[in-house]
Amino acid sequence: MVPKGSGGERKCENKAMLVEKNVPLEPCNTFHIVARAHALVRLGSEADVLAVLADPDWGQAPKFILGGGSNIVLTGDVKALVLKVDIKGRRLLRDTPRAWVVEAGAGEDWHEFVEWTLAQGYPGLENMALIPGTVGAAPVQNVGAYGVELQDRFESLDAIDLQTGQTFTLDAAQCGFGYRDSVFKHASHSLGLAGRALITRVRFALPKPWRAVLGYADLEKKMAQSQVSQPTPQHIFDWVCEIRRAKLPDPALIGNAGSFFKNPTVTAEQCVDIIARDPKIVYYHLVDGSVKLAAGWLIDACGWKGKSVGNAGVYDKQALVLVNRGGATGGEVMTLAYAIQTSVYERFGIMLETEPVVV
Ligand code: EPU
Repeated sequence: MVPKGSGGERKCENKAMLVEKNVPLEPCNTFHIVARAHALVRLGSEADVLAVLADPDWGQAPKFILGGGSNIVLTGDVKALVLKVDIKGRRLLRDTPRAWVVEAGAGEDWHEFVEWTLAQGYPGLENMALIPGTVGAAPVQNVGAYGVELQDRFESLDAIDLQTGQTFTLDAAQCGFGYRDSVFKHASHSLGLAGRALITRVRFALPKPWRAVLGYADLEKKMAQSQVSQPTPQHIFDWVCEIRRAKLPDPALIGNAGSFFKNPTVTAEQCVDIIARDPKIVYYHLVDGSVKLAAGWLIDACGWKGKSVGNAGVYDKQALVLVNRGGATGGEVMTLAYAIQTSVYERFGIMLETEPVVV
């Protein structure tokens, strides 16, 4: 493999592969932060990944895996070799009495994949419509919305170990899914696979018979308004799209990475104290006795909605979302994030955890 424009292309696995130099990453991250990759290679297949690993110049180089760029904050140029995962393909693998098992390449756009499953008659992902990003990035943070998380519909995934070149398959238990968390977010010293496993394909088991997942206040409200008593998957898909469009900024228009903080979980004792001081606080009881607080409410209560630090701001319709008001740097986004964490900590004694990966 040789740099683009440097006079030649080395054939790898019978296929010419290009390492592009000095590549603008603004179109590759939904925050639209301006940064560059010193070197980037686009991977359209498993063979492309193996070719990079076998390459004498790049095989041992530090690497950074980039999916849809919907959950990252770039704080500078990326010096590691950027692996842009563009592996495509969607298909029904099995149609059993219990589930439709569908598979998608890691580079498929998540929302287009959800639309495709519905159009093919395989419902089950509709509550997760319009989540930005790719299929391969979805298991990394166990995406979820309106009562369904990826782990509820997950079957298995294929990945390549960037250290050994081995291909392997993981089931749900092996992925260690948690709330916006998985083994792919943790470094190897804590038994994680961050930066090591490159996800190539993901399989989903969409249970039969299909059952609507309602119960979220916003969805119930839509149902009441539309006077539909037996919603179809398409109804739910449409409602979720409408709710998200009304409340969350479209990354194509306003740079953002969705929720910037996780909803914190506290003990019942901690919560009694917090609720006593702020009775209007929004919270949910979890089955294990702990309590999840709405981080958006906490941030809103500290007066952050609509505020800015430089060109980074807090979205005016949902305080959990930080936005790029135009030309924001990753540093400005992180300065704003720290300021929010500090004020929420000072008022409520809770340290908010960030959701995106800071690069
Ligand atoms: N709230 C406020 N002020 C705000 C924002 C929220 O008072 O500025 C209150 C709302 O009124 C509501 C509560 O906080 O009572 C929760 O808000 P919302 O229903 O919008 O959900 P969320 O907890 O803010 C989570 C996910 C979203 C997901 C929605 C729906 C996290 C970190 N975020 O948001 O996921 O779409 O629930 O399931 O869990 C994402 O991860 O990027 C994301 C958008």
